[in-house]
Amino acid sequence: RTPVLLDCDPGIDDALAIAYLVAEHRAGRIDLAGLVCTAGNVGLEDTVANALAWLDLAGAPVLPVAAGAPGPIAVPHVLTPETHGSRGAGHAELATTTRAVDARDGARLWVELARAHPGELVGIVTGPSSSLARAVALDPALPGLLARLVVMGGTFRGHPGNTTPVSEWNVDVDPEAADRICRVWEDARAADPAVTAPLWCGLNLTERAVWTPERSRALLAAADTPLIRALVDALRFYFEFHESVGEGYLAQVHDPLVAWIALHPGSEVSEPAHVRVECTGEHTRGMTVADVRGQRGRVDNARVATDLLLPGGAGAVLDEVCAAIAS
Ligand code: BDR
Ligand code: CA
Repeated sequence: RTPVLLDCDPGIDDALAIAYLVAEHRAGRIDLAGLVCTAGNVGLEDTVANALAWLDLAGAPVLPVAAGAPGPIAVPHVLTPETHGSRGAGHAELATTTRAVDARDGARLWVELARAHPGELVGIVTGPSSSLARAVALDPALPGLLARLVVMGGTFRGHPGNTTPVSEWNVDVDPEAADRICRVWEDARAADPAVTAPLWCGLNLTERAVWTPERSRALLAAADTPLIRALVDALRFYFEFHESVGEGYLAQVHDPLVAWIALHPGSEVSEPAHVRVECTGEHTRGMTVADVRGQRGRVDNARVATDLLLPGGAGAVLDEVCAAIAS
């Protein structure tokens, strides 16, 4: 069973990713080896508490859950309670849990799980890259130890940002961390081309994962469980947020799409690129700048996801995510 580490900042769509991965673990299809929580959608204390509560609701086995970076590398952490609610779970009331937090720092957990499963671990990042940036500082060999790294981050091919006109939220929170990931993988692949380039799933792809109130109703009808009730309550807040920014009463659920892609290698269309993150631009800070034509003459440090091969696209992925969560 493929060992999987999720680095997340729950967060409403992160909660869907957690529920999906736990379902896959319970079905024996993956080994959910650990969670790292990073400050992002809400502060670190809340992302940790939420992750533990969602794991409880999903019926996850005991697994290490570690607190990672408490904020970005170089700038203060800006919270956006209007997106995921003041505690990061929308309208869901999450119970406190008796599940313990791992004593290790999140960066340490990244390194130890990668070392425990050399060449096998699939890493998924659905929050800012702050903890992963610390992990690669702790162990520069990390890129060569992972089977695959799939990141929800950035926006490509001229697709507009969701935080500034050119930046996506996870990258915008901590551009220095995201850029460090790009630089570290560039160095690693320059030294050893066998190192797998991270797959960047940006808004150009993930905004296709649209969750509607009908989907919530169908999920509840399929299985009326405490987990699903809490997810539906959380999602209601996400609908309200999207409506408030003119997207309609629906929600873009980036993170479960990316978790599904991570478990289905080859399910996406992607192109090799040299990606860097703009960290200084007055109007472009947080922009993911992909060189897909080799104009910089640098080794490809990324693959940029552009499409899905699954017939039915992102909607079909969400169908699979729902079926797993309801099972
Ligand atoms: C990303 O930002 C967060 O608010 C979501 O959880 C997702 O990971 C989308 O830009
Ligand atoms: Ca997230």
